[in-house]
Amino acid sequence: MMTRREWMRQAAAVTAVAATPGLLSGGCLAQAPASGDQAITGTGSLKAHAAARGLLTGCAVNANLLREDEGFRKLLADQYNILVPENCLKWNMLRPTDDTYNFADPDSLVAFAEAHGMKVRGHNFVWHEALPGWFTGTVNKDNARKFLVDHIHTVGGRYRGKIHSWDVVNEAIWIPDGRPDGLRSSSPWFQMLGPGYIDIAFRTARVADPTALLTYNDYSIEYDNDEEGKKRAAVLALLRRMKGDKVPLDALGIQSHLHAVSKDGFSRGVRELIDGAKELGLQVFLTELDVNDDAVATADMAERDNIVAAVYRSYLATALEGPEVKAVLTWGASDKNTWLNHGTKFRKQHPERLQRPLPFDPDYAPAPAFFALRASLDKAMKR
Ligand code: XIL
Repeated sequence: MMTRREWMRQAAAVTAVAATPGLLSGGCLAQAPASGDQAITGTGSLKAHAAARGLLTGCAVNANLLREDEGFRKLLADQYNILVPENCLKWNMLRPTDDTYNFADPDSLVAFAEAHGMKVRGHNFVWHEALPGWFTGTVNKDNARKFLVDHIHTVGGRYRGKIHSWDVVNEAIWIPDGRPDGLRSSSPWFQMLGPGYIDIAFRTARVADPTALLTYNDYSIEYDNDEEGKKRAAVLALLRRMKGDKVPLDALGIQSHLHAVSKDGFSRGVRELIDGAKELGLQVFLTELDVNDDAVATADMAERDNIVAAVYRSYLATALEGPEVKAVLTWGASDKNTWLNHGTKFRKQHPERLQRPLPFDPDYAPAPAFFALRASLDKAMKR
């Protein structure tokens, strides 16, 4: 099975970023904020600008930082109106043994969000990754359905009424597995339960938390190329099939892990996704936005930051053009903690250089991507 790492695009050549179609479609490099527009909290915050357009804006939250870093807590409280736990609702974090749960971190996150009037996304119930060590020896074809249903009832039920939207199934499409429907047959869930695991999860989630918007979430479906086009088509076909079968489904999550250097644009791909979701009556969320800048040639940090910001502008210009996208979340808030800097697996070309994919720099100062994101929210039509 190909790993996620192998799949993530490494740009074939370091092309001049401003010459790539994806960057030209949405406009120019990020502008420095005009003087007098320096406030970035209060009325200048992301959440204030988002709320003015009827949008939610948020980020993935690392539970350790939430616990230990007061500056991080302040940043979250200042800027966002929705949070999603980065890892602490995944099976490997939540389930130390087959019959125990560790709710300490997600409980704190939900309490923090409530205390600050923020919404919470649930991520996720079903994924082929992040399964605990005991899983393989314990969960099998005979008991997999019970494990899945019990998990969703226990976790979904605990936070019932408190979750804006649940990523019920994450990343179920994987074209290289070779099935006509594109389903990831290498997923342990598929192997134990067949394609039906998806419907079981969504039907159970609706019962466990009837008010959460049930979301299908996937990645590498944004760009205008054959590979992502095939995956995008398979995702939309899955959603269509589910709707046809009356499976409860409310939203599409477009992860939006983008690349600062890419030979392909994303305007057509993003439109296809949004139009496809709209036809099915689904809301759309950008769930994990970040911009991988490993392939940017220049060592100049300001230039790199501007290139990253340009991708934010360009992508959001397309994604927020119509009223369908209701929430924009980045995968982390600050470059101090981004999954792209865990080890060097996403830093193949410049392993010595830390990536800067997020709106805030490692000192929690706003980066050009912050101003690009905020300006993009301003340009969005009112929801
Ligand atoms: C990532 C986390 O950011 C990492 O800390 C963890 O080690 C692996 O998972 N798509 C998803 C997220 O849906 O859950 C992943 O999060 C990033 C890719």
